Amino acid sequence: MIPTLEWLPTGVNFLDQTKLPLEETYVLATSYQEVATVIRDMIVRGAPAIGVSAAMGVAIGIDRSKTTTLDALTAEVDVICDTLAATRPTAVNLFWGIGRIRDLYNRLVEGGADIATIKKAVVEEACQMYDEDIAACKQMGAHGAALMPKTGTVLTHCNAGALATCGYGSALGVIRAAIERGHTIDVLADETRPFLQGARLTAWELMKDNIQTTVLCDNMAGHLMSKGRIQAVIVGADRIAANGDTANKIGTYSVSILAKEHGIPFYVAAPWSTIDLATLTGDGIPIEQRAATEVTHSNGKQMTPDGVGIENPAFDVTPAKYVTAIITERGILRAPYEESIRAMTAQEQPI
Ligand code: MRU
Repeated sequence: MIPTLEWLPTGVNFLDQTKLPLEETYVLATSYQEVATVIRDMIVRGAPAIGVSAAMGVAIGIDRSKTTTLDALTAEVDVICDTLAATRPTAVNLFWGIGRIRDLYNRLVEGGADIATIKKAVVEEACQMYDEDIAACKQMGAHGAALMPKTGTVLTHCNAGALATCGYGSALGVIRAAIERGHTIDVLADETRPFLQGARLTAWELMKDNIQTTVLCDNMAGHLMSKGRIQAVIVGADRIAANGDTANKIGTYSVSILAKEHGIPFYVAAPWSTIDLATLTGDGIPIEQRAATEVTHSNGKQMTPDGVGIENPAFDVTPAKYVTAIITERGILRAPYEESIRAMTAQEQPI
């Protein structure tokens, strides 16, 4: 299993995704501020991975606190949570991860726990979230495998793999699970400009698993679809609104329309923590704007003339009407999504 992130006695260890595929190096974050930097700089990225990273960030902040009173610790926890919440706005998993440790902290304080007990409990909770994330990926795989073609080519956009989760992956987990169940699948990975998650990360992790992978530029998918070369599309998600509108890496929206035009199923795979019932439609999802230099420069080299205008929204929203199904660890959601999401929310959950 690719070690995307790991809680160690010395800190939280992250595989540096900015260096892949050329270098396999690690960054050890020993404070919550360092975890925040790791998330902001996309050393770790992908919604489920940043959710658990943020939880570990809150836990390390509490665990390493030098304060001796609960009042002082609570004031510090406010700062820790605010700092981590300010790193990236779109993936709701980040806020879910912070909220889960914060809620536990509040419950422990209300229950009269001492500081040592709180420190131990929050670290254990963050580590449990790590295990749950891998279990959720495996469950998504189990639910979604049958949706993949028995034999054929599947297109994916960005990286929704082991590197974007604590292991195994959401969209790539479904592909892995289908292959484990005997499907013959090769993967087309959109390069995913400007950060190149497809070219650098999806290609790297699938090749490690000996899964046949081909990288294409983002503007080539329509052509290949028109030639019958793509049997299904599967992507991850950063936030799914209550009506099924799905925010994912910039370019996903265009792929969804192309898939619709060519009659190709378009699947989203995401853990339940990506569903944001408080956001009713995609219009309410905040879209992260990243630095212009991600677009103007490639590998340190300037690609555009000085002074030209630059757009760099990191995500877009795919309307629910283009989504064939949403694969979660709880099961498969189908349209109308308001109803299927509400019904599955109400069910008793094993994970
Ligand atoms: O900017 P990133 O690399 O964090 O964006 C990641 C994506 O858009 C992924 O597709 C999404 O988080 C799902 S990961 C299972």
